[in-house]
Amino acid sequence: MPDRYVIANWKMNLPPEGIDAYADALNRIEGGNARLVIAPPYPYIERVARRVRDGHGVAAQNCSDHDKGAFTGEVAPAMLREAGARFVILGHSERRAIFGETDGIVARKVTIALATSLTPILCIGENLRTRDAGNASRVLADQIRAAAEGLGSGAVILAYEPIWAIGTGRNASGTMVAETVGHIRDAMGRFWPQAAAKETPILYGGSVTPDNVAELVGHGHIDGFLVGGASLDSGKFAAIHRALA
Ligand code: 13P
Repeated sequence: MPDRYVIANWKMNLPPEGIDAYADALNRIEGGNARLVIAPPYPYIERVARRVRDGHGVAAQNCSDHDKGAFTGEVAPAMLREAGARFVILGHSERRAIFGETDGIVARKVTIALATSLTPILCIGENLRTRDAGNASRVLADQIRAAAEGLGSGAVILAYEPIWAIGTGRNASGTMVAETVGHIRDAMGRFWPQAAAKETPILYGGSVTPDNVAELVGHGHIDGFLVGGASLDSGKFAAIHRALA
């Protein structure tokens, strides 16, 4: 059975209740069989890592595809690890769409993150045109094949985030997610080493809230969630975690 995760992607936001209060609220969560991970903006990684209790994890939202050098504004994976991150979100659709990250760049980042002992949270997802044209599983399979180049024999977490569901309030239905996760598992079986194909957790992300999480969990197949907007409120994030348990 793959491990389970519920991951808070704060993006370029901070929780209105304050970072310390947020971390303390998560520290009070007992039980559940999914690991909690928080992905704050870079400057707050160290603070969150110091404040959250053992067992919870901290992720960076991105990293450089180089390990050092003249790359103004970039942050190396080893620096993120030193700050306390143990995971790194890679290939988020916002990075692909706004910052022009290609499958090749994402694969290089996967390689360097793994070499630095950061676990990549690799994001894939189709846009609405692709979904409506019936091409979603082919496009997702292409993204999975492209990532194989960076993967080697390393272990990643995969996050399926349909672009049309991100920040739109329009989540995919439980049936659609379950079916798509099946296609993703198939594609992993074709392109990834067998152990990775079986053991990689597959998370869903895209407008997950305490109100729709039960429906998503109800169809099975999902190993957790990557949450944006609703993760900025510790109460909502905790409710999503509870629903998975
Ligand atoms: P929302 O939950 O705000 O739709 O964001 C999802 C996401 O992009 C998480 O990485």
